[in-house]
Amino acid sequence: MNAPLRRVTVPIEGRAYEVVVGLGAVAELPSLLPPTAKRIAVVSQEGVPVQIETTLPHEVFCIGQGEQHKTLATVGDLCRGFARMGLTRNDVVVGVGGGMVTDVAGFAAASYHRGVPVVHVSTTLLGMIDAAIGGKTGVNLPEGKNLVGAFWQPSGVICDLDALTTLPEREVRCGYGEMAKYHFLTGDDLLALDLTDRVARCVEIKAEVVASDEREGGRRAILNYGHTLAHALEIATEHRLAHGEAVAIGLIFAAHLANELGRIDIARVDEHFEVVGVAYGLATDIPRGLDADRLLDLMRKDKKALDGLTFVLDGPAGVEVVPGVADEPVLAALARML
Ligand code: GLY
Repeated sequence: MNAPLRRVTVPIEGRAYEVVVGLGAVAELPSLLPPTAKRIAVVSQEGVPVQIETTLPHEVFCIGQGEQHKTLATVGDLCRGFARMGLTRNDVVVGVGGGMVTDVAGFAAASYHRGVPVVHVSTTLLGMIDAAIGGKTGVNLPEGKNLVGAFWQPSGVICDLDALTTLPEREVRCGYGEMAKYHFLTGDDLLALDLTDRVARCVEIKAEVVASDEREGGRRAILNYGHTLAHALEIATEHRLAHGEAVAIGLIFAAHLANELGRIDIARVDEHFEVVGVAYGLATDIPRGLDADRLLDLMRKDKKALDGLTFVLDGPAGVEVVPGVADEPVLAALARML
């Protein structure tokens, strides 16, 4: 017998929606579709292990694989396809895939007819606990990742854990990198939970943060814990480090930096290592050959750095945004890891 499905509400005022988590959750898709929908535009990719079954007329649009297809041109092609099939604002887009698919499908849904409902069926761990939840959508420009997008909340999200049984090992690691982050946003012992409950709890934590600050005026930035160094590492390694792998290293760095700044003690730094390196078995060292000054420079250019070097750091009041950090403690924290 499968564990029962979990339903988590993302409690955004006036636009609350449900996230259904568990094995076989895709069977719940009809309950998340808007009752007005007469057709479905399914956005997916080759090789995605989940197909949706529906009695409504639908068309499947497969987008290319890889960041080079996460573009305005892809969104343009999708919207032209939606127009050809006669999709209206009463209908629905369903994004079936990982974070790239749900980001692109969400942005196409946000743009077409100035906004049509979208439901996400997330098929990767990283997508389930992060990308598909919270309404951030967008695409890349040659100038940088996710530079064009919209906040467009889905009408519902499915996290079908069956999809994880065929998830490549590296993608599982990437999901673990983001999952490790949630351990430090609350005091929960996430390791004590089985997979369904742990994914549901990560969704719940994210849902609460998003509902308190949908447009990232402030608090939502705590979801970027570990991400400042992570983004720098992704660029410095020309994306040889995947996002979740970089977040794992970024969490350890953030702990060292918080310790340098006197915000947490060394036992708390060790706790970060226990979760990231031991419990999830993720690599925690900065790859060889990277230079501290280059990483510092990249972190200074982080798009969230509004007031000098800005980090999300643990401390006596929990994880929070800390602007205006001096170079010296950052270099000292990097030196501990290089
Ligand atoms: N991935 C961070 C956020 O959704 O705000």
